[in-house]
Amino acid sequence: MTTLVIGARGNVGRRVVDQLLAAGEPVRASVRNPATADLPAGVPVVAADLTRPATLTEALRGVRQVFVYAPTDGADDFAAAAREAGVEHVVLLSSGSVLLSSANGNLIAEEHRAVEQTMAASGLRWTPIRPLVLATNALNWADAIRDEGVVQLVHPEAKTAPIHERDVAAVAVAALLGHGSADGMLTGPRLLSQREQVELIGAAAGVPVRIEELSETEARQQFGQFEKPAVVDAILAFIANAARGGSPATDTVERVLGRPGLGFEQWAAEHFPLA
Ligand SMILES: NC(=O)c1ccc[n+]([C@@H]2O[C@H](COP(=O)([O-])OP(=O)(O)OC[C@H]3O[C@@H](n4cnc5c(N)ncnc54)[C@H](OP(=O)(O)O)[C@@H]3O)[C@@H](O)[C@H]2O)c1
Repeated sequence: MTTLVIGARGNVGRRVVDQLLAAGEPVRASVRNPATADLPAGVPVVAADLTRPATLTEALRGVRQVFVYAPTDGADDFAAAAREAGVEHVVLLSSGSVLLSSANGNLIAEEHRAVEQTMAASGLRWTPIRPLVLATNALNWADAIRDEGVVQLVHPEAKTAPIHERDVAAVAVAALLGHGSADGMLTGPRLLSQREQVELIGAAAGVPVRIEELSETEARQQFGQFEKPAVVDAILAFIANAARGGSPATDTVERVLGRPGLGFEQWAAEHFPLA
């Protein structure tokens, strides 16, 4: 029976599609704009937008399981549509911040917690997938590395354990296939300071990369160009907490997958030869 992947073009969603196909599972992919899909040949693609509930009925028809990103809007409507369609299991991409007491009250943690609460109250069987720090965050550094050979960092010594999106997807697929208990906090295999992450990227890209340290005030200004103030607060609080040693590395990936998580070195080698 078919699994619908909502957000099939996303960093994680696309790997979920690939890994379900590799496991021989029937997959349907949903994107908001099918013209931009670019998915593997033979995968049926439907248009669905979590903020437009009318689009969900057709997308969910005949679907037994769903992988879905935690939507900031539309979680109630999604849950109602999934129940109506007879969906048996929802695998929700949430956030490890809901398990981090130091993140209580920050917007990113609370938005994910609210979606989890909606799923818990929905009557649907659901499994949260809870990565703490995605390695793909480092793609935000790519332009500055390519153009200027520099990365500006607040708290460069703050340590996190970034997780490869393929491992997040693998844990989600394990949940969809009924293997392993996937709801613990997901991280990469080891803690690395932001400085070490940049150095590994420089090595993978084959270019020298300089680090410029930002004060919190400077970082607030910079992040504020792209994010609303409450998100900037959440990100800065998370980095400051990591600088105090508050961002853990867990063994959840290894326990679920039966192999160590993919290292940041590998992630950098795959993403940072800069074209
Ligand atoms: N950054 C972190 O460190 C971190 C940590 C913990 C958890 N997370 C979670 O991981 C997510 C990012 O994962 P990612 O890198 O795989 O994301 P991504 O590459 O940005 O992809 C996001 C996907 O969500 C889909 N989407 C967005 N709004 C939608 C809507 N209204 N209806 C249907 N689909 C919608 C997009 O679909 P289209 O293709 O149609 O545009 C896209 O495929 C975050 O949003 C957060 O929830 C992130």
